[in-house]
Amino acid sequence: MARAGTHIVGLDIGTTKVCVLIAEPHGAGAIDIIGFGSAPSRGMRKGVVVNLDSCVASIKQAVEEAELMAGCSVDRAYVGVAGAHVRGLNSRGVVAISGRDHEVTRDDVHRVLAAARAVNIPPEREIFHVLPQEFMVDDQDGIHDPVGMTGSKLQANVHLVTASVTAAQNLVNSVNRAGVEVEEVVLEQLAAADAVLTPDEKEMGVALIDIGAGTTDLVIFERGAIRHIAALPTGGEHVTNDIAVGLRTPIPEAERIKKKHGCALAGLVGDEDTVEVPSVGGRKPRVLSRQLLCEIVQPRVEEIFSLIAEEFARSAFDRSIHAGVVLTGGGSMLEGIQEAAEQSLNVPVRRGAPAGLGGLADAVATPQHSTVVGLALFGARRRESRPQKTVHPFLLARVGDMVKGWLSELF
Ligand SMILES: Nc1ncnc2c1ncn2[C@@H]1O[C@H](COP(=O)(O)OP(=O)(O)OP(=O)(O)O)[C@@H](O)[C@H]1O
Ligand SMILES: [Mg+2]
Repeated sequence: MARAGTHIVGLDIGTTKVCVLIAEPHGAGAIDIIGFGSAPSRGMRKGVVVNLDSCVASIKQAVEEAELMAGCSVDRAYVGVAGAHVRGLNSRGVVAISGRDHEVTRDDVHRVLAAARAVNIPPEREIFHVLPQEFMVDDQDGIHDPVGMTGSKLQANVHLVTASVTAAQNLVNSVNRAGVEVEEVVLEQLAAADAVLTPDEKEMGVALIDIGAGTTDLVIFERGAIRHIAALPTGGEHVTNDIAVGLRTPIPEAERIKKKHGCALAGLVGDEDTVEVPSVGGRKPRVLSRQLLCEIVQPRVEEIFSLIAEEFARSAFDRSIHAGVVLTGGGSMLEGIQEAAEQSLNVPVRRGAPAGLGGLADAVATPQHSTVVGLALFGARRRESRPQKTVHPFLLARVGDMVKGWLSELF
């Protein structure tokens, strides 16, 4: 099989599914999709590998499917990372502009970003993104690119993203053992945002909520940059479990009933609507009112959005979300969830799915695939700003490269 030389591969290892996307870049960050593979995920819980062998087997299965479709082999991939072990913090760096004529050089920018990331991180954590928010030259703030400006003091505000070293290493090991090198580990929210948010939304202020199976991941953008990230330990599988317990039906049936008849707002469901519910232990199926189903689903959805509201308040950016909320991830496909979010959060809400792609775009045009599409888009931008280079299989050796990567992307 031909090697996927210039192709870009995104790999999303979720709680329910592993997805692989092979894309062909064609300039200005645009991609054509040429291969897609998906396999049930085993061995992951809330963004963390809990069974390495099962995780490796799922990755292999998804990779093989994508390779068959694309007719080329996958050697390396941009891999998504998320979950409760991932944290973000805002930081600031200041340096003197010492060069000729006090003009800011690329080297000064590099130094100020290095200063901004020089914060005390516990030894079991590692920084894997340094995301510049804005620069200041003396008292002038809100600068996107300070190179060439004159002053005596350069300051940078950044968002640092850290991950547990062991959790990230286990993820990298699983991918390596499936025969794929990790080109870069990318924050899943950052990737999903690439796939579903518009530049205007990011500029005005927007919150992207990715409702997965095991976790709900949040990212807040304002003035074009990431300001806050969080992962909540509740997602679609909790809704399914509630249905299984509440209606006394097996989990696979509860999952099917949720997708077909579930609704996040009881007010949207007619009083006469009914649902047939299979029983456990060989008992006869029952016919129950759909209202009853919604009474189980609604409180769990409300809980998710009340946790989100608390996170908004904690972020101090709750007043900056002028473009509202965008829901994505498989959990956002639940009927009525948009209306439920509007009621709970009191902002306009839309559902976001990948759009504007070429090639086999239909295969991934649903909210479940925002992350994997975003990983490929991230990779396409990265390749344009930074020509291909040797890949280190270990995360730890790569942080310096990340900073350089972000630098080259800035200018
Ligand atoms: N039509 C639908 N209606 C309601 N829920 C749905 C629908 N389709 C998928 N889901 C739910 O979406 C969840 C899976 O979403 P997704 O594929 O984004 O998760 P994941 O990436 O595997 O998990 P995570 O991101 O938490 O690791 C499941 O809980 C599933 O029940
Ligand atoms: Mg996911």
